[in-house]
Amino acid sequence: MEKTIAVLPGDGIGPEVTEAAVKVLQSIAMRYGHTFHLKHALIGGSAVDAHNSPLPEETVAACEASDAILLGAVGGVKWDNHPAHLRPEKGLLNIRKHFDLFANIRPVKAVPALLGSSPLKEEVAKDVDMVIVRELTGGLYFAEPKRRSEKSAVDTLVYTRREIERIVDQAFEIARGRRGKVTSVDKANVLETSKLWREVVEERKAAYPDVEVEHMLVDSAAMKLITDPRRFDVVVTENMFGDILSDEASVITGSLGMLPSASVRTDGFGLYEPVHGSAPDIAGQNKANPSAAILSVAMMLRHSFGMHSEASAIEEAVMGVLEDGYCTGDLTTAGKRTVSTETFVTKVIEEVERE
Ligand code: NAI
Ligand code: MG
Repeated sequence: MEKTIAVLPGDGIGPEVTEAAVKVLQSIAMRYGHTFHLKHALIGGSAVDAHNSPLPEETVAACEASDAILLGAVGGVKWDNHPAHLRPEKGLLNIRKHFDLFANIRPVKAVPALLGSSPLKEEVAKDVDMVIVRELTGGLYFAEPKRRSEKSAVDTLVYTRREIERIVDQAFEIARGRRGKVTSVDKANVLETSKLWREVVEERKAAYPDVEVEHMLVDSAAMKLITDPRRFDVVVTENMFGDILSDEASVITGSLGMLPSASVRTDGFGLYEPVHGSAPDIAGQNKANPSAAILSVAMMLRHSFGMHSEASAIEEAVMGVLEDGYCTGDLTTAGKRTVSTETFVTKVIEEVERE
């Protein structure tokens, strides 16, 4: 197969982990006979420095001419005092909105070799395997009015029926390919948008008789995520609840450096990025854990290109290296050997070539 991928390394450790992920992608191309054309472009703080915009037109054009987008991370103290339109994260919000990437998919899976790194007790974190599906282009983060005065501030929470339907359908489809259970998280005892959300889930479930559905209030979900995470298969929720719950769930695996994500729409186009940020504290030190970026490439291959064996080969290679006892410094499991980003990637590529 021949595919074009826009590569947006971003800031901080973004370029390091993206370069690692691209190396693994190239090893997959060799092994399986694919051709990946890469279009590098700027986003975030590095784009502000070069073009005075966190999402320059050239970057949007490169993405439009591609089949998928691979992103590193954006942000850093250097840009913290810039006005809102010149902040790195504005680049991320804008690219999601521009490409209508309404579904953020975050798998959270316990890694057997890393159970000791989780702050949760091993018997709680063991065998966790869930996917959080977060609505990404609506709700409080986008709806107008949004304004400030001296004495007050306003944010607006709006959801249309259509916006809810498409994210809920996405969650049902994902559940079908897994254990067949959807937990819909809302605050329907208080919020009108949540009442509509619950109504839509009840309507849509008729189309998926093979999927079991439960509703859960967000406060209770926040508690169950860390006391009984194995009970979840697919969790679907609105933008802000999903933002908070997915970061909470990320602790189960022991490090932000292990978590990939996809932001997609219905035609297969998507943006793939690690969940973590630009980690300025370790940038440029060859210390970053590239697993999240590498696993994001696996999600891209599976979701946007339908390359299932290739995606599994990457996931098995990463798990294999961890099981062999190698990890980066963010993971504290006893008995592991701490290696650099570069060494870790070399090991992953050796595994891909060996499989
Ligand atoms: P962060 O995720 O960058 O870092 C949090 C902690 O985890 C740090 O101690 C960092 O060293 C560590 N860490 C993160 N990823 C790691 C990896 N791959 N390997 C090893 N250790 C890793 O979050 P923080 O510190 O809150 O934010 C730093 C900057 O990143 C800020 O400017 C923030 O706005 C931005 N950010 C960007 C995101 C994105 O691009 N999607 C998401 C979150 C934050
Ligand atoms: Mg977040």
